[in-house]
Amino acid sequence: MQFSFPLCLAPMVGLSHVVLRKIVFDYMPQGCETIWPTEMLNSRRIPQEVLGATAETILFEGERNLVPQILGNEKADIQKTIQKMMNEWGDPNTVSGIDINMGCPVQKALKHNYGVALMGDLNYAAQVVEFAATASRLPVSVKLRAVGSDKSVPELIHFVKTLRDAGAQWITLHPRTAAQKRRGQADWNQITELKKALDIPIVGNGDIQTADDVFAMLETTGCDLVMSGRGLAARPWMVWQVAYRKGLTTEVPPMTEYEEGAEYGKMLLKYIHLCRHYFCERLGYKPEYAFRKIQFFVRTTHVWLEWGHPLTSEVNRSKSFEEMIERVEKFFDQPHRMLPYTELRQ
Ligand SMILES: Cc1cc2nc3c(=O)[nH]c(=O)nc-3n(C[C@H](O)[C@H](O)[C@H](O)COP(=O)(O)O)c2cc1C
Repeated sequence: MQFSFPLCLAPMVGLSHVVLRKIVFDYMPQGCETIWPTEMLNSRRIPQEVLGATAETILFEGERNLVPQILGNEKADIQKTIQKMMNEWGDPNTVSGIDINMGCPVQKALKHNYGVALMGDLNYAAQVVEFAATASRLPVSVKLRAVGSDKSVPELIHFVKTLRDAGAQWITLHPRTAAQKRRGQADWNQITELKKALDIPIVGNGDIQTADDVFAMLETTGCDLVMSGRGLAARPWMVWQVAYRKGLTTEVPPMTEYEEGAEYGKMLLKYIHLCRHYFCERLGYKPEYAFRKIQFFVRTTHVWLEWGHPLTSEVNRSKSFEEMIERVEKFFDQPHRMLPYTELRQ
């Protein structure tokens, strides 16, 4: 795992595509290296697709150090997917690892024994890691959820040791249970215990909303890298704030609630432009496709803006890119406060 920076973006269906990655990347000071997710990629579909020709697989120019996340449980699908990624994302720096999803809690995943269902089937989970590790010259990692309670931590450690022995080179833990989905508090203690018990890198995830949280998680849990999903999507300049605090840049990032509110507005306008560029101009999708991505992004991230709700209707009502840009610009003509914390519900 190649990183010199303590924070990375989480894989999120519908969110961690090229546009958000480009936005977060552009906030990173030069020379800072971290790993980058894709959206979850279905190993049943990827072998038939052309990489770069879909919204989930298009990359930005010069993009590197990706760790695509795959979902699946069939040996042939997993191996063909990995081979394809290694062949078609040819530059050896483009992809630097493969992540296996063992956290997806949707009903379909439970029924078909992939995603979080694999956590209930240790032997099969280990086999899935082996399928991936034997097909890949790149390191393989696994992203997991929490087990039921503190008492089950030894069970989690045993599970992770088995995955490590099967070839997993690092683990990401999102310590919320499948039942919690993405609500309620993440139990960082499970990250601490895993880090103490394992000799491979551990990535900690859950409840990271601010730069303070990044440093708190590093200190409290001892994890090697912090991963943020919704918080970093809403506040992509968090990477700049972290870099500034670590002395990696002297350029001062947005700090106050009003500065962050204004930055959100600038960032959203860039997001709209980039959705138009990648999804409509590059891939030839209809504007409605890009609008749905923008609407979803605003629905997930506006909750940090103090009076953010009307922004969702401004975006939802827009019938063209021009109208959307105009409405967003007008909305941010007024100063807006961006709050450090919100209840994570989405
Ligand atoms: C809209 C959305 C989609 C997600 N999709 C995935 C996914 O495809 N794969 C995955 O491992 N986790 C997925 N997650 C979970 C995140 O990676 C992360 O573990 C979770 O949101 C907790 O981190 P956070 O509190 O920083 O958001 C998703 C989360 C959200 C909000």
